[in-house]
Amino acid sequence: MNRTIRTTEDVLALLDGLFPPAEPFWDRLYADRSAERPFFTPRPDENLVSYLDRGLLPPAPGRALDLGCGAGRNAIHLASLGFEVDAVDLSATALAWAGERARGTAPAVGPRFHRANIFEAELPHAQYDLVYDSGCLHHLPPHRRVSYLALLDRVLAPGGHFAVTAFAAGAMGSERPDEELYRLGALEGGLAYSPDELRSLFRDLTPLEVRPMTAQGPGSALFGASFLLTALFRRTAGL
Ligand SMILES: C[S@@+](CC[C@H](N)C(=O)[O-])C[C@H]1O[C@@H](n2cnc3c(N)ncnc32)[C@H](O)[C@@H]1O
Repeated sequence: MNRTIRTTEDVLALLDGLFPPAEPFWDRLYADRSAERPFFTPRPDENLVSYLDRGLLPPAPGRALDLGCGAGRNAIHLASLGFEVDAVDLSATALAWAGERARGTAPAVGPRFHRANIFEAELPHAQYDLVYDSGCLHHLPPHRRVSYLALLDRVLAPGGHFAVTAFAAGAMGSERPDEELYRLGALEGGLAYSPDELRSLFRDLTPLEVRPMTAQGPGSALFGASFLLTALFRRTAGL
């Protein structure tokens, strides 16, 4: 059958096919735990800890959703504080590692890990007080921003918070225009975002703080790298 496009989802799926499949890539990457990758650290993001310390996020208990949780460091941190956490990732090898870490860290109630595409995950709750994404958005092809905004619209509770960490334009990631990425058929290791691009993408939310991540030294209990941009938004209560 040649005429396969009927719905918007068919268009999105066709565009997905212009890029290499993500799941085998991530499974291979997490298979070597000894590799030097910044996000293999067990330490939570400094911005997430800082939002909580400064009262920019309501404290636990609350429901949190970690999108593209990888080996679970931020999900486990939130669970250790008493949040009820659902954490989603495509990669079974990442989630195997996350499960081991959660058992080793022994928060009273660990995160629930879901192996799924974030756009297809079957979650136990309809809405979350906090949606957190450290490094997933910038690995999505441009057309999946449409799906991402629809996902946020569905799962972020009124008055809830959304925080994202992405490659900072000028420091890391591809700065090619969206259209060129389709011609190339590659995301070049992830897309760079500027503060204005994040504000514009999430313009239906109120920006509370958009800033570079604060780099952390080797002795820090937190993770921070200056090639990342961090952004915290709030959804208007009642919307
Ligand atoms: C750079 S890693 C960051 C992992 C983790 N958030 C951290 O900071 O340690 C990006 C993660 O996003 C996941 N990912 C990418 N696209 C995804 C999708 N569509 N659905 C679910 N997970 C996805 C990958 O498997 C990978 O674990």
